[in-house]
Amino acid sequence: TTSTVSTTTISPGPWSDVRLPTYLVPYHYVVDLQPNLEPDSTGKYWFNGTSEVQFQVANSTRFIYIHSNKLEYDDVYLADEKSIRTKFTFFQGAAISIAQWWLYDMNQFLIVELDAELVQGQNYSLHTQFKGELADDLTGLYRSTYTDINGKDVIIAISQMQPTDARKSFPCFDEPAFKATFKIFLWHKDPNYALSNMPFVITEERYGGWKRTEFEPTLRMSTYLLAFVVSEFGYEQSFTSGTPPVQTRIYARPEQVLNHNVEYAKNITPVILDYYESYFGVDYPLPKSDQIAVPDFALGGMENWGLVMYRETALLFDAAINSAYSKQRVARVIAHELSHQWFGDLITPLWWDELWLNEGFATFIEYIGTDYVEPGFRMMDQFVLYDLHDALTVDALTTSRPIIAENVTTPDDINALFDDISYSKGGCFIRMISEFAGEEAFKLGLKNYLEEFSYGLVDHNQLFSYWEEAILATNPKNNPPENFKADMDTWVNQMGYPVVTMKQNLDNPLMMEVLQERFLLDPKADPTLPESPYNYRWTIPFWYIIEGDTEKSFFWLRKETDLSMVYPNGKYVIGNYEAFGYYRVNYDDANWNAIINQLSRNFSAINVKSRSQIIDDALTLARTGLVKYEIALKTTKFLRDDYDFLPWQSALRVLSYLDDMLGRSEAYGVYSSYLLYLVEPAYYNLTWTDEGDHLQRQQRGSTINTACSYGSIDCIEHAQTLFHTWMADPSNNTISPNLRDAVYCQAVANGGSDEWDFIWGRYQTEGDSHEKSALQSALACTKQLWIIQRYLEYTLDSTLVRNQDAYSVYVGLCGNDYARDLTWDFLRREWDYIYEVYGSGFFRINSIIEGCTSRFSTEFELKELETFKESRSDQLGTGARSVDQALELTKTNIQWRTDYEDTVFSWLNETMS
Ligand SMILES: *[C@@H]1O[C@H](CO)[C@@H](O)[C@H](O)[C@H]1NC(C)=O
Ligand SMILES: *[C@@H]1O[C@H](CO)[C@@H](O)[C@H](O)[C@H]1NC(C)=O
Ligand SMILES: *[C@@H]1O[C@H](CO)[C@@H](O)[C@H](O)[C@H]1NC(C)=O
Ligand SMILES: *[C@@H]1O[C@H](CO)[C@@H](O)[C@H](O)[C@H]1NC(C)=O
Ligand SMILES: *[C@@H]1O[C@H](CO)[C@@H](O)[C@H](O)[C@H]1NC(C)=O
Ligand SMILES: *[C@@H]1O[C@H](CO)[C@@H](O)[C@H](O)[C@H]1NC(C)=O
Ligand SMILES: *[C@@H]1O[C@H](CO)[C@@H](O)[C@H](O)[C@H]1NC(C)=O
Ligand SMILES: [Zn+2]
Repeated sequence: TTSTVSTTTISPGPWSDVRLPTYLVPYHYVVDLQPNLEPDSTGKYWFNGTSEVQFQVANSTRFIYIHSNKLEYDDVYLADEKSIRTKFTFFQGAAISIAQWWLYDMNQFLIVELDAELVQGQNYSLHTQFKGELADDLTGLYRSTYTDINGKDVIIAISQMQPTDARKSFPCFDEPAFKATFKIFLWHKDPNYALSNMPFVITEERYGGWKRTEFEPTLRMSTYLLAFVVSEFGYEQSFTSGTPPVQTRIYARPEQVLNHNVEYAKNITPVILDYYESYFGVDYPLPKSDQIAVPDFALGGMENWGLVMYRETALLFDAAINSAYSKQRVARVIAHELSHQWFGDLITPLWWDELWLNEGFATFIEYIGTDYVEPGFRMMDQFVLYDLHDALTVDALTTSRPIIAENVTTPDDINALFDDISYSKGGCFIRMISEFAGEEAFKLGLKNYLEEFSYGLVDHNQLFSYWEEAILATNPKNNPPENFKADMDTWVNQMGYPVVTMKQNLDNPLMMEVLQERFLLDPKADPTLPESPYNYRWTIPFWYIIEGDTEKSFFWLRKETDLSMVYPNGKYVIGNYEAFGYYRVNYDDANWNAIINQLSRNFSAINVKSRSQIIDDALTLARTGLVKYEIALKTTKFLRDDYDFLPWQSALRVLSYLDDMLGRSEAYGVYSSYLLYLVEPAYYNLTWTDEGDHLQRQQRGSTINTACSYGSIDCIEHAQTLFHTWMADPSNNTISPNLRDAVYCQAVANGGSDEWDFIWGRYQTEGDSHEKSALQSALACTKQLWIIQRYLEYTLDSTLVRNQDAYSVYVGLCGNDYARDLTWDFLRREWDYIYEVYGSGFFRINSIIEGCTSRFSTEFELKELETFKESRSDQLGTGARSVDQALELTKTNIQWRTDYEDTVFSWLNETMS
């Protein structure tokens, strides 16, 4: 049964508001869930359960409404203190009875209408009996399937609640502010057992082979952090060094544990937890920390309190066959999720519009945590590549958004916030604060904030006031000029960021003018729109160095006024030195040329993060006409001498724009020659021997891929030889882990169906998830149109390509010139399917749209995109903003080709002749 009344007879009521009212305050739940891992006669899987929620009435009311999605109810009861529990019916004797109840699907509510008003100040409990489908849809309580070593399909039950799917597992007040304690029970049959956020208390035998495990009640927490698992996974464990020690276990499929692939996670987890306890000054609050690798998982990781979940590539690592990059990914994702045990789990933003307080922190702290366990990874340098440059790209669009989002109500609104702004820009902003505040004040502010709001709710005003207090107590001169909140609000309450221009005063060469303006990728866009409370001015912590200085200098550039600084004529200046600032810097031509001369004379005189930043700033500013391309392109020339990972990755990333724009132009030949000219010294220096430090190993793989891609015959032949040796003896893969991505891709790109089919065969049976992902990337490198078409068709069959992976197949194919058009046609044709699978999840649909439209640069493509937006307007889900951004970018691309294609072509022509 579903409902006692039909929805059509329901009159409109307060439930038309998608947000919960505040007059019912839940404080405790008892949830009993029974996931059935055997299908019914129609092949469907189900779970059923009961739930009780105890709540206090803050204002009297005749309606209870509580979130519920895709659940069917058998019974709904209300109880009060006078109710008596009987054996067959739940309760009798409650003073107030239920008039009727129904499901209001539009806002995912179960609504209970009472005969009389609940009394203000009294406590009641709502009891329900329900069932729901245990689908393979990666949300709520769902099922995941894998093939074990004996070739048998095994089903497990697993959960993903964030942000709004706890309500798909049991009825609950499913907003983060409604924190409560939870008593969980889970049913299972041998050989399976159950896990949840807290340690188990007891497992009891029930009828029909069922067992029921009871867990300790949770601490006060939000619904989106609950976690349930029923599986037969293995684990390995270790302990933190605190008193008492916290038990840390890593769970995975039994064969992954036998193969020791949980070892790395097992070793670093207690070290990171211990470090965070001392860094934050607040103990890990739970008695245990479990982490589990799930075969089908929508995200990288999910920070459920005490039971963190990961996709396999984010938790498991096999040193014999996985790359340095894979190891870094595992360390980073673990450090990220563990930091959430404090930021997000212990303290939680009042509402999703401040998601950055979770994700910005976790993004920044993941570098701190990884750097602590793996100092050789140079994580604090790599921040620039993975977060600063990403954020500066999307945030230069007029379709960006402020860090603190506006008008967030529906599940789609909420899902859309899991974007580069919450994560990367949030992380960049926090990193900038840590640099001007100083480590001592930064940590002290955090400690006080965490202690004050533990088990409670926060917003940015509280954080800002604790930081200000800490700065004033330790080093008051570091506080922003007006006050912390007034100045820092300019970064969180308006979108975008400034470009700071430093140019010599023509009348007084001993003065340098320093001015700010909003930076936009579209030079034609109106920089005053959409309206901002700060008119796109920021209070900027500004760091710079003057030629010959050994340490960077600092001043505040205020939102109200620009300034002039004294400047020793004849020396170069570099702004945003070491790239801690969330802004770009531009100079007059003379200063740019002086920096370029320094790079060509002796690049190592300039900090490596700044070398990355100079390339990224110059080539990005050139796109909008703020820097001449003749100058911007010259900032890459020193890469013939500098083989470091950082400047190279920055260059490849920002040059990929030229690659996109010139890909179909006659300039592409000379562009490829230039790239090959740049990369050859590094290619011959790094050789094919997989040795050196962590970043050299990654740089070698990347260098080989670059050299092969731009046509080095030596490189292609080398890759093919290695690959064919493996094809001849498939059981003996001698290709070094760090070269596999490049070798596989180049062998497929320069080969035919033999190479592709060989990889496809391995992909179908490969048990190691990192290796499987390398194979999957290689499949997208083919240049054969019929193979591309066939591969696209395969993605519609989840037994061939898992749903969690198909989106990355599209993104991979869209990154390949030969496959892009076919893939875009395919996606539009199959959009119903794409929308069904990815429409409501975070990130995925955005990546697909971004990846597949980045090269659009003709009027025809713009029309196609506009038609797509119109015809699918109700099927864009969380990708709506991405489509608007794609339209904006396409227009700027069209303009770019008119304005700059010839200039770039001539420069390349001259340089290469
Ligand atoms: C699930 O349904 C079965 C069959 O009606 C019932 O015996 C069982 O108690 C239910 N489980 C829970 C946890 O309510
Ligand atoms: C709810 O109750 C509080 C006092 O407990 C009162 O101040 C408030 O006005 C009430 N709100 C409504 C909507 O009745
Ligand atoms: C209602 O429950 C709360 C939380 O457990 C408790 O503090 C309060 O005393 C209870 N109120 C009544 C009237 O029983
Ligand atoms: C938020 O909603 C208000 C009122 O409807 C509207 O004026 C404003 O433009 C919206 N803001 C955004 C960013 O959509
Ligand atoms: C690579 O370059 C480094 C530093 O310039 C040099 O010491 C090394 O000998 C070079 N190796 C090869 C193989 O050229
Ligand atoms: C794998 O190939 C390498 C190089 O060709 C060879 O030295 C090694 O003995 C082979 N291993 C096995 C197990 O065949
Ligand atoms: C590039 O060089 C070629 C031959 O040297 C010449 O034909 C062509 O016009 C040049 N193109 C540009 C844009 O300078
Ligand atoms: Zn996170």
